[in-house]
Amino acid sequence: MRELNTALVLGASGGLAHAIVNELIADAEIDTVVAVSRKSAPESFTGTETSVPIWIETEYVESAMASVVERLQPFAGSVTRVVICHGILHSDTLWPEKRLEDIDADALHAVFQANTVVPVLWLKLLHRLLKSNQRCVVAALSARVGSIGDNRLGGWYGYRSSKASLNMMLRTLSIEYARRAKNVKIIAFHPGTSDTPLSKPFRRSVPNEKLFTPQFVAERLCGIMRNAEIDGQLSYLDWDNKSIPW
Ligand SMILES: NC(=O)c1ccc[n+]([C@@H]2O[C@H](COP(=O)([O-])OP(=O)(O)OC[C@H]3O[C@@H](n4cnc5c(N)ncnc54)[C@H](OP(=O)(O)O)[C@@H]3O)[C@@H](O)[C@H]2O)c1
Repeated sequence: MRELNTALVLGASGGLAHAIVNELIADAEIDTVVAVSRKSAPESFTGTETSVPIWIETEYVESAMASVVERLQPFAGSVTRVVICHGILHSDTLWPEKRLEDIDADALHAVFQANTVVPVLWLKLLHRLLKSNQRCVVAALSARVGSIGDNRLGGWYGYRSSKASLNMMLRTLSIEYARRAKNVKIIAFHPGTSDTPLSKPFRRSVPNEKLFTPQFVAERLCGIMRNAEIDGQLSYLDWDNKSIPW
């Protein structure tokens, strides 16, 4: 008999996360999709004849996140996909910096908390649950602008450096996971500019053919995760499965 496959989507209310959840629900290889969010489940969150997804609401403080992981114990050893979708670029109270004068300590804290700290806390809390004889692929949604080598334009201090910091955290985590949960492969994934609330104010310079639908990105990511080799290394990949320079 085939082993059970569970997929976790963390930060499930976002534009990309929504498409990723749907792609995983439609995947015949996945038995259960668990979506975790600060928000309640959208009406569209329904399963198929064979798969009933689960939605868990939480705050992103460590104690509440640990309670979520506790609730996931029945799935220990069966989790084969994890997608970490958290990320903010702008909000009602913050905007990406154009110049030095725009740098603000509170905004930096908020961006680092959502983009770096929350994803890393999940991977701290999840490692025992993910350890298994089955292969497990974790993708954290990073961004090409987190590449230090690729930074030619400047600006967006907080977003860029929170993603660079996420990448370094993931690299460090992948070294420890290679010792403690050898079945896990971690990917820092750049989706490309995609049609979601995050990119909406910044699309004027993006040609139509370069603005991806969330569904396209979800299909690409799920394909990359399906075929990823478990090699104990962090990969920094774009939607086309091409490596991005650190
Ligand atoms: N769209 C693009 O063009 C693009 C390009 C490159 C990289 N990315 C990355 O892709 C990921 C998903 O982005 P998206 O385009 O789907 O954006 P989105 O629609 O704005 O979704 C935002 C995501 O961030 C989470 N989030 C929002 N505020 C948070 C907070 N204060 N603390 C923790 N989590 C918070 C949400 O989780 P809840 O479910 O809890 O609300 C949701 O998963 C992000 O990491 C983003 O940086 C996007």
